Amino acid sequence: MVDSKKIISTYKNIKLSGANVTVPHKEYAFNLCDEVQGIAQKIGAVNTLVTKKGKIIGLNTDASGFYRSIESFKDIKSALILGAGGTAKAISFILNENSIRTTILNRSKDRLDFFEKAGFENFSWDNFEIKKFDIIINTTSAGLKDETFPLDKAVLSNLMSKSKYAFDVVYGRNTPFLKLAKQNSLLSKDGSDMLLHQASIAFNHFFGNIYDLDIIENYMKKSFFL
Ligand SMILES: NC(=O)c1ccc[n+]([C@@H]2O[C@H](COP(=O)([O-])OP(=O)(O)OC[C@H]3O[C@@H](n4cnc5c(N)ncnc54)[C@H](OP(=O)(O)O)[C@@H]3O)[C@@H](O)[C@H]2O)c1
Repeated sequence: MVDSKKIISTYKNIKLSGANVTVPHKEYAFNLCDEVQGIAQKIGAVNTLVTKKGKIIGLNTDASGFYRSIESFKDIKSALILGAGGTAKAISFILNENSIRTTILNRSKDRLDFFEKAGFENFSWDNFEIKKFDIIINTTSAGLKDETFPLDKAVLSNLMSKSKYAFDVVYGRNTPFLKLAKQNSLLSKDGSDMLLHQASIAFNHFFGNIYDLDIIENYMKKSFFL
């Protein structure tokens, strides 16, 4: 794996003009690029690098990619995000920018400081009280390679019984979270569309945003779902 500290020097050495950055390098790249634009400034992580006039610009397309992937979910006014890592940061700010009241629930307290300072309602498992949210979003890696839930199953089931939608950022896997959502008759999605959309938005940045996103996505889908 590439050493995070070498992300930018590697980018320069191999003369790239655009690149996607993935876990665990997004925060490092944020600190090392020449300029950070858009919502990435709030998130503190970039997943896209583009060279413009000799400067390396950092952007975050996870946020807009996520939002584009929930466009079919109508009338969302409140959201509960499970987890408080980099993906939770991206999703929380884009929801907030779209006037969706967003609450963060994390297993432990440490990572909640960031959200507290940013003004988000936040809880750890210790002090959370169940209430109604329109959408529940799993940003933890629970269920990625195992059969675990991101939250106590009974608490999650209770939350889902009051909710309309569920979204798991994990893709290509019917996670325990998604299975429980279906049992509770929620409309649900895994992270495949988010992956596709963040990539198509990044691709458009590489080429000066001259293309129609729908057209990029039609081409990408053909290789993505092979
Ligand atoms: N679909 C897409 O396009 C897309 C885009 C970006 C990321 N992702 C996926 O998003 C996931 C998270 O990435 P990230 O960078 O945000 O991770 P991260 O920064 O490592 O954050 C992980 C968070 O999940 C919590 N967590 C981990 N395991 C847990 C468990 N078993 N039960 C409950 N909570 C748990 C952690 O809680 P503690 O603080 O208590 O440790 C932490 O808040 C990854 O699976 C990644 O592949 C998907």
